[in-house]
Amino acid sequence: MRPFVIKDKSVPSGKINLPGDKSIAHRALIISALSCGKTIIRNFPVCDDSLATLGALVALGAKISRSNKQVLVRPGTGRGLLKPVKPIFVGNSGATLRLLLGVLAGQDFTTKLLAGKYLSVRPMARVNLPLRMMGAGITAKNKGQEEYPPIVITGNKLKGISYRMPVASAQVKGAILLAGLFAKGRTRVIQPVKTRDHTERMLKAFGVKITTDGNSVILNPGKSLVSPGEIYIPGDISSAAFFMVLASIIPGSNVIIRRASLNPGRCGIINVLKRMRAKIEVCRPKDMKARSFEPMGNLNVSSSRLKATVINPGEIPSLVDELPVLMVAACFARGSTIIKGAGELRVKETDRINSMSRNLKLMGADIRVVKSGSKENIVINGKGKLKGARLKSFGDHRTAMSMVVAALAAEGRSEIDDVSCISKSFPGFIATLKSLIKR
Ligand code: S3P
Repeated sequence: MRPFVIKDKSVPSGKINLPGDKSIAHRALIISALSCGKTIIRNFPVCDDSLATLGALVALGAKISRSNKQVLVRPGTGRGLLKPVKPIFVGNSGATLRLLLGVLAGQDFTTKLLAGKYLSVRPMARVNLPLRMMGAGITAKNKGQEEYPPIVITGNKLKGISYRMPVASAQVKGAILLAGLFAKGRTRVIQPVKTRDHTERMLKAFGVKITTDGNSVILNPGKSLVSPGEIYIPGDISSAAFFMVLASIIPGSNVIIRRASLNPGRCGIINVLKRMRAKIEVCRPKDMKARSFEPMGNLNVSSSRLKATVINPGEIPSLVDELPVLMVAACFARGSTIIKGAGELRVKETDRINSMSRNLKLMGADIRVVKSGSKENIVINGKGKLKGARLKSFGDHRTAMSMVVAALAAEGRSEIDDVSCISKSFPGFIATLKSLIKR
């Protein structure tokens, strides 16, 4: 793989549409495959992770066809899936693996799930534990108290549970709720902090009785799932984040991002950037009537002089995937930015505290990790600039895209060793970027 080279500063300007939100896409596919009636999914993100979910569902008997960004899911049984003929490979998609475990917990067969190199070292006990409490039989690779793929899951007659999640994770919540569809009695998930509610919204769109009470979500299983017929997936706010930061830190920029998902559990990036004095206008045009079951809107972002901020632990779930690019923004802000309780970054596609601090230090940033009890805080003293360097993606899509943003705003030449990992979430990232940089 040849390194990706960025030679000089460029000023982005223009309008972009982004691929559909992959978090929503996983849920749309899985829940459609379980439902009665056909579903057309529009603005489907054609990337490694959502294709992993699509492929896994086909292996489980779902009838799915795709033509570019449009997916047709033919009627399922209204409840279950079919026994696969061989182990299912889910690539490096954590959401595919964890959400599917929830569904497989309630099937009357055994499935072996295999993962790629990066997912094979990510923790799975957080999802296996509650699913076992519901009645599923699960074996996984063990290392001390922790569990890792490959995972063998034998479905069972499940019972609803009330489960207090020790970690704020939308994937774990989603898995428990999906298992709850097949359980006897109601299932309740208590979150330490509210997380993205894509599973809840999608299940509601398919007629499931699901309610919230503070940080708790309660699902009452009942009749079969009924498809709403069509689902439009708004643009991925996690992909929008790279352009929001880019436009904020390069003087003279103006970028309009059309139809971005604005789920309240994902808007942390907007709130934090605004606190840093970024110029971001959010507008929700009336003509956005597409059936998405999720809030969406246009984002108009112009450059501004950023100032430092403090990101609190309670905010982390609403911007967990955006922290790498927020670290880049902090380098260009005046003052000391503190990200409190960022430990979950250690168990993403790579250890993102390590990947980002190593890269940013090479670019001259003042970034350090400070331990506070069991929590880890990241402190960045913004210098208003970075210098070009030889950088590494660590095989992680969000580290790679964050470093492209940093390199575009930096003085001098940078190169990134391998950006092929970007295809995990956003294969068109470089092309979209080029469309904004017309010389
Ligand atoms: C996701 C939830 C988050 C996020 C991931 C997608 C989801 O993970 O980091 O990229 O689709 O539910 P956790 O649930 O592990 O926090």
